[in-house]
Amino acid sequence: MTTPLSDHIDAMLHEDRVIAPSEAFAAQARVTREDYDRLYRQSIDDPQTFWADVAGELEWMTPWTQVLEWQEPHAQWFVGAQTNIAHNALDRNVARGLGDKRAIVWEGEDGEVRTYTYAELLAEVKKAANALSGLGVQAGDRVTLYLPMIPEAAIAMLACARIGAAHSVVFGGFSVSALSDRINDAQSTVLITADGGLRRGNLVPLKANADEAARTTPGLQHIVVVNRGGSNPPMQEGRDVWWHDLLAGAGEEHDAVPVDSEHPLFILYTSGSTGKPKGVLHTTGGYMVGTYLTTRTVFDLRDDDVYWCTADVGWVTGHSYIVYGPLLNGATVLMYEGAPNQPDWGRFWDIVQKHRVTILYTAPTAIRAIMRQGDAYPNAYDLSSLRLLGSVGEPINPEAWMWYYRVIGGERCPVVDTWWQTETGSIMLTTLPGAYPSKPGSAGLPMFGVDAAIMTREGQELGPNDGGLLVIKKPWPSMLRTVYGDDARYRKSYWGEIPHVYFAGDGARRDAEGYYTVMGRVDDVLNVSGHRLGTMEIESALVAHPSVAEAAVVGRPDDVKGECVVAFITPQGGHTVDPAALRAHVSKEIGALARPDAIIVAEALPKTRSGKIMRRFLRQIAAGRAIEGDTSTLEDPSVLDRLAATEAV
Ligand code: WTA
Repeated sequence: MTTPLSDHIDAMLHEDRVIAPSEAFAAQARVTREDYDRLYRQSIDDPQTFWADVAGELEWMTPWTQVLEWQEPHAQWFVGAQTNIAHNALDRNVARGLGDKRAIVWEGEDGEVRTYTYAELLAEVKKAANALSGLGVQAGDRVTLYLPMIPEAAIAMLACARIGAAHSVVFGGFSVSALSDRINDAQSTVLITADGGLRRGNLVPLKANADEAARTTPGLQHIVVVNRGGSNPPMQEGRDVWWHDLLAGAGEEHDAVPVDSEHPLFILYTSGSTGKPKGVLHTTGGYMVGTYLTTRTVFDLRDDDVYWCTADVGWVTGHSYIVYGPLLNGATVLMYEGAPNQPDWGRFWDIVQKHRVTILYTAPTAIRAIMRQGDAYPNAYDLSSLRLLGSVGEPINPEAWMWYYRVIGGERCPVVDTWWQTETGSIMLTTLPGAYPSKPGSAGLPMFGVDAAIMTREGQELGPNDGGLLVIKKPWPSMLRTVYGDDARYRKSYWGEIPHVYFAGDGARRDAEGYYTVMGRVDDVLNVSGHRLGTMEIESALVAHPSVAEAAVVGRPDDVKGECVVAFITPQGGHTVDPAALRAHVSKEIGALARPDAIIVAEALPKTRSGKIMRRFLRQIAAGRAIEGDTSTLEDPSVLDRLAATEAV
């Protein structure tokens, strides 16, 4: 419950700058201050009318009989309606005359560029939908995707949606066992992968990982392989099929399958504070309406924008703000395959200049990493096409915010800091550009329909400037519906922690003007470079290694990653700990993103008399701080001094 405030969060609390949008931007803003005030009020006082108006801009094959049916903690939005999100993203936009507009402009890490117009994207998605049906995939089934950042990732997602199958995208950086767990949990019969994806010039061996994962996924019948790298991986007769062969043989006509508004759209696994990752389930209608509205308003989207979100489709940001939200709005989406520093730290700015990107949405960790390399990289490129900047994934420290605003945005572009989660489906807190000024470090005001508050753990609402827990008091359309296969966990983790409200897991405070500053997780979830990791997941990976007896993992504030992983371990009798082997083991169990930055090997961990590890003290030690707090409940307080004196390996 007590995550210490890191230094940059301290700075955030003392930040009082206010950055107003330029007059030029405000004059043309999609949502003015008056609009925001009026619409926000309506969205809270009369959500049914507000959301029906937004949903009315999209196409439904059968209208709803009721906007919301709420039986805590279960919501149904647009009850009884039928629609299809791929139809709304593609067919609808082609029908409104956007067929020749660029939908996806893709740049590979090696510089290759591919473009799909809306009509071309629709044609590919239709073929892919037929191909998946041909493999026996039906509405209601789950399909796992393990792909690099290539257009086929978006095509495969939309093809699943088109036939009413839920996709479960597994980030390409996850390991064999993470992939196999997710395939089994979702009971997917089809996996779509690629031979590899380019990352810092190397081909990440996705197909080889998939082959290994498939040894422990008895239900998996087909592996569809996109040829990205030309690497010719072995193909298993009867099980593996090339994506291009499958699509070449697929019919070109396909009508999107009308599905119920509450039909599952996707599962996305994310880390929680206990054991194994949870499959966050999103459904169709509400998610569609939420991502549609937030993309248009938060990014002030215009017909001629070139919109670039640097996330990976393996995370929720890629789902909502690379694929669904922008395509529903008929936007031109730039998609980039590789690393930000390939061939050098100017890559992002080269892409902005080359494609005349107007909207850039990225993560604080990327901003800080780029900022470290100095201003020379961005200054060497023409960034004048940019008109709006966004940030997501973790708190952005004011220093990085100001650098982003000044050096990248030329003090011309509003910066929208957007707070939301895998579970919320779409952006929940932000200052709408042009409507309200930004306060660096503070995500800002609630989005339409978001009834946020700061509470104590007992459910008492706190007033301005009091730090507490961030909660949402009413259901919103794009909220998760359950944890796949574990509704009890859904009830308990989200609506059971604090009575009758959604508990986000973050600590925050609200100032007198209603701006929310989110300070980070208050549970055992780490945020490493904007990626969520559960401390328990990493601990279980560590103790699964023969040399480890016990493990306790905590986060340590990090200037670039926001937070990094520190593991305290005790060795298994008779074993010596090899840090390199242990890191490789964690990479293999979870993925490289979970690899501990520091490992501290100790004789003992600080435990209470009842045997509970006191992580609070471990966080202080990891951060190199003096021990604070009552150590008298520890069985042996001298353990702390010994740990503090131990060099990390
Ligand atoms: C954190 C990513 C502060 C927060 C969209 C949340 C943020 C977790 C922000 C969700 C922000 C995300 N300011 N913190 N603008 N955006 N977070 O599920 O701790 O990968 O609970 O969703 O990231 O991470 P997730």
